[in-house]
Amino acid sequence: MSHSPAAFPAARLRRTRQSSPIRGLVRENTLSVDDLIWPVFVRDGEGVEEPVASMPGVVRRSVDKIVEAAREAADLGIPAICLFPYTDPALKTADCAEAWNPDNLSNRATRAIKSAVPEIAVMTDVALDPYNINGHDGFVRDGEILNDETVEALVKQAMSQADAGADIIGPSDMMDGRIGAIRAALEGAGHADVMILSYAAKYASAFYGPFRDAVGASGALKGDKSTYQMDPGNSDEALRLVGRDLDEGADMVMVKPGMPYLDICCRVKEHFGVPTYAYQVSGEYAMIAGAAQNGWIDGDKAMMESLLCFKRAGCDGILTYFAPQVARKLAKQ
Ligand code: PBG
Repeated sequence: MSHSPAAFPAARLRRTRQSSPIRGLVRENTLSVDDLIWPVFVRDGEGVEEPVASMPGVVRRSVDKIVEAAREAADLGIPAICLFPYTDPALKTADCAEAWNPDNLSNRATRAIKSAVPEIAVMTDVALDPYNINGHDGFVRDGEILNDETVEALVKQAMSQADAGADIIGPSDMMDGRIGAIRAALEGAGHADVMILSYAAKYASAFYGPFRDAVGASGALKGDKSTYQMDPGNSDEALRLVGRDLDEGADMVMVKPGMPYLDICCRVKEHFGVPTYAYQVSGEYAMIAGAAQNGWIDGDKAMMESLLCFKRAGCDGILTYFAPQVARKLAKQ
């Protein structure tokens, strides 16, 4: 597509890099506050902000504090907040019934945000892991993760989230057939406008480690998730999954993790041309925030660069724990 440059010295490609305004003029991609979805951790209690040890700067918030955080995010212009509950271990069971309890932590937080800060979109997570005694995203029988039984439960979970007022449903479980089942149930229940952002290409990744601490699932998890999450060696399979989820009624798709999978983001955007998101996951956050805390890298610069690169790869937006920091920085520029 790009024209091959004339020979030196007719072409001196440094000419358009000579000053900050000129670099701005020729910059192909930019990061904006409109590109951000902010994942947050919810816990019970009141007035609580509890640090997550493996994610410096990230806290678990009680519902009242989540509402304050949503207010702050909306004032910064962040379009969406994504809720992840830290579930009391006593509520974790083999049947995962807490997942579709209309009054579970996630649903209470959704209702509280939607009534206090209606302008911010609330995204919720569909998967059984926060509620599952064995930490898996699906039901487990004799060591096997059951697909179809899990999909029925995920539909109940998604419906309870839509009933609570969620704007965007985010199935992160990687079961087959869940997007179609959730879409049909939403249509049937008068939730035609509820969006689905499918975690379509979600890899079995070591970069989720700090998240599992944050939601209290690491202790519970038996084995790994490689029979349902993708193999990091695969790329064509990501396109099949994205195509499948779009056919079943996903409005937007996600690649996860982000930084080691920019090639997948690029292929998905080029192939389908649909709203495409990357999740800069907990391990990616921890690497940047942890190195910055030790004075090994410039944290702010690494944060901005990492997020801009998602845009360059073709993403329309990024789920990032840095969202409010980024929004504050962008507001000052
Ligand atoms: C679970 C879920 C995970 C993340 C989002 N939803 C972890 C997992 O699949 O084990 C990871 C997010 C992160 O690491 O920041 N359904």
